[in-house]
Amino acid sequence: MNQGRHPIKTVEDIPFFSEDRYWGKAPKEELEKAVSLIVDKGWDEFQVVFKDKFDATFEENRADWRFVIPVSKDFTVLDAGAGMGRISIPLARVVKKVVALDQSFLRMKFLKLRAGKEGLTNIEVNVGDIFDRPFPNESFDLIVMNGLLEWVGATNRFKNPREAQIVSLRIAKDLLKKGGYLYIGIENRIAAANLKAIDHSGLRFTSYMPRFIADIYMKILKGRRYDTYTYSRKGYIKLIKESGFDLSNIEFYLPFPGYNLPRLMIPHNNLYALRFAIESIKPPYGLKGRAIRILVTIPLVLRLYRYLFFSFGIVIKK
Ligand SMILES: C[S@@+](CC[C@H](N)C(=O)[O-])C[C@H]1O[C@@H](n2cnc3c(N)ncnc32)[C@H](O)[C@@H]1O
Repeated sequence: MNQGRHPIKTVEDIPFFSEDRYWGKAPKEELEKAVSLIVDKGWDEFQVVFKDKFDATFEENRADWRFVIPVSKDFTVLDAGAGMGRISIPLARVVKKVVALDQSFLRMKFLKLRAGKEGLTNIEVNVGDIFDRPFPNESFDLIVMNGLLEWVGATNRFKNPREAQIVSLRIAKDLLKKGGYLYIGIENRIAAANLKAIDHSGLRFTSYMPRFIADIYMKILKGRRYDTYTYSRKGYIKLIKESGFDLSNIEFYLPFPGYNLPRLMIPHNNLYALRFAIESIKPPYGLKGRAIRILVTIPLVLRLYRYLFFSFGIVIKK
């Protein structure tokens, strides 16, 4: 059994289990400046100068999926790929301890400062790659992979992105205590919304394409392989099964409006809840509004629509 690793170094009291790898849409220098500004001048100044610049906000709703899991004050949680801490912070208020792990030192430094501002002493931040298995097996009651699984393929440690995803899930399974929960928040490969959006690859429509076509397309247009795999519901079930989880303990939710802001967690099998959610958001007037009202009364339409929903919240019990 793996007993966890020793840090390779510690910088500003933050242990490193792997080398730093910056992650974020804004350039690294911007986040460096922002972190220095927080240290020198405080959070008010940060909010003025860097408003909406990073994935940082004082709102604490990204972890609202937690209501579908019996999270308790005894829980020790791993927030894997914790980013700017939009899940670690709200979770820390309701559990015993949150262990945040991210490849990016600047993101972990930001989270540490944020935890300090909130007076939260139960958040531990770590720089590390999930593939380096920094923690002993069976350490956690809950592991969160929100917006992580689609990115773990961006490594050359494995033959292909799918293999990387399976290994990351196997590691999560090893790190979970028996009876613990894994929560995955992730996009749906075949979501209708992908027609209008840019995929993680930075290009349009790549999630819909067969992988080998997406790969060729990426190599031509971006000069690198396609490695941000997402799946349909069926695809996730297959992936999770291959990772060794027991499928009798898996629940799919449709987070509304999306997994990064889960106001509602609609159970995949609850068509009434889905209808309620759609009726609540679509105004009942205008041609489109009225057509939608009629369509949602047809169970087959709802049944099909949930397969095209934007994203999934997946809860797996070990
Ligand atoms: C889309 S962000 C999600 C952040 C956060 N979970 C949230 O929901 O707000 C993905 C994060 O995963 C981190 N990451 C990517 N690959 C990783 C890996 N192999 N090990 C640890 N962290 C990783 C990135 O540095 C980034 O901060």
